[in-house]
Amino acid sequence: MKKDFLSIIDLDEYELESIVADAVRLKRLKSAGTAHEFLRGRSLGMIFEKASTRTRVSFEVGMSDLGGHALFLNPQDMQLGRGEEIRDTARVLARYVDAVMIRAYSHATVEEFARYADVPVVNGLSGRLHPCQVLADIMTLTERFGDLHGLKLAWVGDGNNVCNSWILSSALTGMEIAVASPPRYRPKDEIVDRARAMGGKVTIVTDPIEAVRDADVLYTDIWVSMGDEQERAERLRALRGYTIDSRLLAQASPDALVMHCLPAHRGEEITDEVMEGPQSIVWDQAENRLHAQKALLVRLIAGGMPADE
Ligand code: CP
Ligand code: NVA
Repeated sequence: MKKDFLSIIDLDEYELESIVADAVRLKRLKSAGTAHEFLRGRSLGMIFEKASTRTRVSFEVGMSDLGGHALFLNPQDMQLGRGEEIRDTARVLARYVDAVMIRAYSHATVEEFARYADVPVVNGLSGRLHPCQVLADIMTLTERFGDLHGLKLAWVGDGNNVCNSWILSSALTGMEIAVASPPRYRPKDEIVDRARAMGGKVTIVTDPIEAVRDADVLYTDIWVSMGDEQERAERLRALRGYTIDSRLLAQASPDALVMHCLPAHRGEEITDEVMEGPQSIVWDQAENRLHAQKALLVRLIAGGMPADE
């Protein structure tokens, strides 16, 4: 049966660990210049309803590294843009390609696509979740810390799609996720309840200082996500005071790392000083999108990497 990756909890903790281990091996193979064409002759369709830099380039280069091919598909240039239904497009594309990555406004679109496509479907970001980002982030933290159990990650700012995926990941990694958001922009209760029901340790507070206390990792994201543009003024007002700056960073563990999925708006959710500072690992995160997604694709399309590679 095909396996989709619509949410980080589509993986269990062993699958997550094994994909991260494969990603580390793939990173090593790439940096040694060793060919690793585990998806030779395979194709990935990539549908983007929204803009992208990292996701698009990392999936496209990833498929090329693996000996396969990626197709960038803009819904406006497809019959989707003229009203062809998702369920019809999904069934047709699945007859051509070996997997589909889709970035959509609505999570329901991603789910519908996956329901009708007979090939693995990867959520490349929806209004609700961004599992590929958190997969790469978990790889990045694993490189730094080894075991993630017991670490505390403080999310500061908008309780958005990336935050939701972090919350859900808590039960898989054993990390504590402390979210500080203004009440209006808190993550949805159903996400928090789901994570807790799975054994995740999640706390939701209003005060950023409370969230970052003893945190090993600080994480933030833009205050105005794609699709939220009409709320810009209101969001900037409500989120003032939730900037990761050097004063807030000083309240965390002394060696705390700072993460951001990018794109960043310096001066809003993070200061230039922190983003460019020694505790920031934002470029490693961005790089690891490539390696982590390659490992994911090899798993979903080919069942995993050969044991001796
Ligand atoms: N972090 C992330 O998904 O970036 P893009 O929007 O550039 O793909
Ligand atoms: N929360 C952001 C993430 C961008 C990668 C958005 O959805 O626009």
